[in-house]
Amino acid sequence: MKGIAVKIGQKGAFLTEVMPPDKPVNEQVLLKTLYTGICGTDRGIINGLLNFARPEADKDLLVLGHEGLAQVMDTGEKVKSLKPGDLVVPIVRRPGKCIQCKIGRQDNCEDGDFVEAGIRGKDGFMREYFIDEEEYLVKVKDKNLGKLAVLTEPLKNLVKAYEVYQTVSNRSVKTCSDGSYWCKKVTIIGAGPIGILFSMLFITHGFQVTLISRSDKEGVASNICKRIGADFIQEDAIKIDVKSLISDIFVDTTGRPEIVGKGLQALKYNGVEILFGTTLAGNINITGEMLTEAVEKNITVFGTVDGAKQHYVEALNYLSMWKEIYGNLLEEIITDEDVPEKSVEALNGDGKGEIKRIIRWS
Ligand code: BGC
Ligand code: ZN
Ligand code: ZN
Repeated sequence: MKGIAVKIGQKGAFLTEVMPPDKPVNEQVLLKTLYTGICGTDRGIINGLLNFARPEADKDLLVLGHEGLAQVMDTGEKVKSLKPGDLVVPIVRRPGKCIQCKIGRQDNCEDGDFVEAGIRGKDGFMREYFIDEEEYLVKVKDKNLGKLAVLTEPLKNLVKAYEVYQTVSNRSVKTCSDGSYWCKKVTIIGAGPIGILFSMLFITHGFQVTLISRSDKEGVASNICKRIGADFIQEDAIKIDVKSLISDIFVDTTGRPEIVGKGLQALKYNGVEILFGTTLAGNINITGEMLTEAVEKNITVFGTVDGAKQHYVEALNYLSMWKEIYGNLLEEIITDEDVPEKSVEALNGDGKGEIKRIIRWS
């Protein structure tokens, strides 16, 4: 059967023959892959930029794919919650042995002793079939979502980020005087799928949102912003005067250190900066003045990665809600879709001209 893999230490992903799974036993579930998404993490692995990427122990190749949507084909005798025909989103990160991992919070793992499907130490979902454990599968109850459910995995990271924002903001009064968030300004940098989904999430909770991006691929980001009631500015945030960026929350999805530095200066009292982007390039000069301001203003900066099973569940609920409210709007995020054979070249490309590219497996 087909799969898409990489050989760590060698650039480029390729289509290859992978072992078909056996019959599922006990808590195992046999799954047919319907769709997988492609993101910056995949391209980072393919280009040798993520030093934590590694194959399964004793294996040579790593099957890619951590953003998946699959259909249950068969179940082991101990599986209770799933039956053939059900749709599921598989969880990326699998627990190690630390206290966080033991309570299902491997997204907050303390020692790095976890594996991630399609990223580190575990084969991913870019293959026609795979076996997984019931525990790591999140059921898609809303059949109307269709392929949009492939956005669950990236969105779950943001659902966690929003929860962390809520937690750190509890140190002071975090709402406007009427208890809502209408007066709170959120600036989000980068109009990839992450920036767009972050905008939708904060709008849903009643914040004022401005999405800023150098590019507006196919006009998708500006159109979505218009529809949901967010502002969109097409400009490099570096070039914008910091006074025009003043906000309560600043979200960086680009991983550019210069932007993160600018965000720090743009925050109001009790402001929060959310670090989500990762690139290995660039650096900033943090001045004593910047530090003093951050201290005097009670600024919080936090990085956040991955999400727990509960965040996948909530991400699915957001997607259903947005489909209900905005109709086919979310579909615009999926700008490219193709079969595996025709997707490899794009996977090896730089992703320019696409927002979310997905691969259709059956
Ligand atoms: C995934 C996370 C994962 C991270 C690793 C992201 O693309 O969504 O689940 O922990 O990559 O850097
Ligand atoms: Zn991803
Ligand atoms: Zn752990």
